[in-house]
Amino acid sequence: MSTYDLAIRGGTLATASDVFRADIGIRDGKIAAIADAVTGAAEEVDATGLLVLPGGIDSHVHIAQPSGDGIVMADDFASATGAAAAGGNTLIMPFALQARGTSLRAAVDAYRAQAEGNCVIDTAIHLIISDPTPEVLGQELPALIKDGYTSFKVFMTYDDLVLSDRELLEVFEVARREGALVMVHAEGYDSIRYMTDRLERAGNTAPYYHAKSRPQLVEREATHRAISHGELVDVPIMIVHVSGREPMEQIRWAQTRGLNVMAETCPQYISLTEEDLRAAQGDDMAGAKYVCSPPPRGTEDHEAIWEGIRTGVFQTFSSDHCPFRYEGTDGKQVPRGRSSFRWVPNGIPGVETRLPILFSEGVSKGRITLQKFVELTATNHARIYGLYPGKGALAVGFDADIALWDPERRETIRQDILHHGADYTPWEGFKVTGWPVMTIARGAVVCKDGTLLAEPGQGKVLARQ
Ligand code: URP
Ligand code: ZN
Ligand code: ZN
Repeated sequence: MSTYDLAIRGGTLATASDVFRADIGIRDGKIAAIADAVTGAAEEVDATGLLVLPGGIDSHVHIAQPSGDGIVMADDFASATGAAAAGGNTLIMPFALQARGTSLRAAVDAYRAQAEGNCVIDTAIHLIISDPTPEVLGQELPALIKDGYTSFKVFMTYDDLVLSDRELLEVFEVARREGALVMVHAEGYDSIRYMTDRLERAGNTAPYYHAKSRPQLVEREATHRAISHGELVDVPIMIVHVSGREPMEQIRWAQTRGLNVMAETCPQYISLTEEDLRAAQGDDMAGAKYVCSPPPRGTEDHEAIWEGIRTGVFQTFSSDHCPFRYEGTDGKQVPRGRSSFRWVPNGIPGVETRLPILFSEGVSKGRITLQKFVELTATNHARIYGLYPGKGALAVGFDADIALWDPERRETIRQDILHHGADYTPWEGFKVTGWPVMTIARGAVVCKDGTLLAEPGQGKVLARQ
């Protein structure tokens, strides 16, 4: 009988603190040995010349989420987790959304039922709270937190989701009392509505004006307000999808004052700009492919985001994967016969491209170390969202969630090599150096050289601490 089910031999391992040469032995889905030489395995993977990293954890994705107006997201759990696995990930964290006037518990149960039996890799579910009634705040939310749904997102904008300042404070208070983490979408609702109306009145309705309707100061103001609310209630908060210098500086200011404010950024804010939202020749709506909120900013903001990454303002780098099709009547191209950017569904697909973009722009171009890459893409997600120990690191006793990377491999991102349900990628033609060539989840090879090898149901839906 073999000592190990699988050995990964000859690779260079990287954790959030170290880079070193070692073999890994895997038994019963867990890392059982890390040693100079691991022998006695039933199967071996030759990792010579490859990097062996913790599988990516993407703590901010939207899958099969009701999107208003009957618009359907382009990914279900099977396609999203498959795409994530192909992109070097072993765990994703989507959101169960409470629609106004409905029970949070019912939304979570229905969403979990959709996930069960359909995931290729592990999934852990956050909540979105859009209707903080006394019953939600007093009973449903505390009970859900005890059941392991320990993080939830609140919105400072969007007609169907926005919470008032008073409601934000009430939700923050529950998080403080129950020991949960609030993720905040920080953009100012009234400012955006004012700008949108003004742009439409002037006839500025093309997708490009989506970016003009929510300038960076709108995000800066809301970020500051969220920080102040967090300080008032004395609760940790996570500001998600930070897009540029102005909100980054608010967060740095808060952190410098000793406030418990964490922050996340995403590939779109180091690689896309608002110019991408302009029309393409022959396609007035092409900019809709890049419509997300907050919108991509300018190249000087890319530099500010790198500054925030290097100096520790950001703890996590997530995709904010929010996949809609471009073509079709329920896609981004034809916003249901309506003529303004206001109706373009917000969000872009990115779960499969997050890691190659950060690896290439960060590690390959010398902006960040390999250890920082691991910290930003796996370890911190596990630590912050209650999955550590067990997930997010290469250590004996942890789940064998591992990605093998070829650091030299050059690829051009193209829709036809991706596995997501969307019909386009905002990064079409984007060149990267460094690519995940094998993903191992709980000790099983789930993707090899772009071919998915796992069955839906192999991934578990996890409860958290
Ligand atoms: O435009 C975006 N980001 N859509 C996804 C929902 C959200 O706000 O994260
Ligand atoms: Zn958001
Ligand atoms: Zn999001």
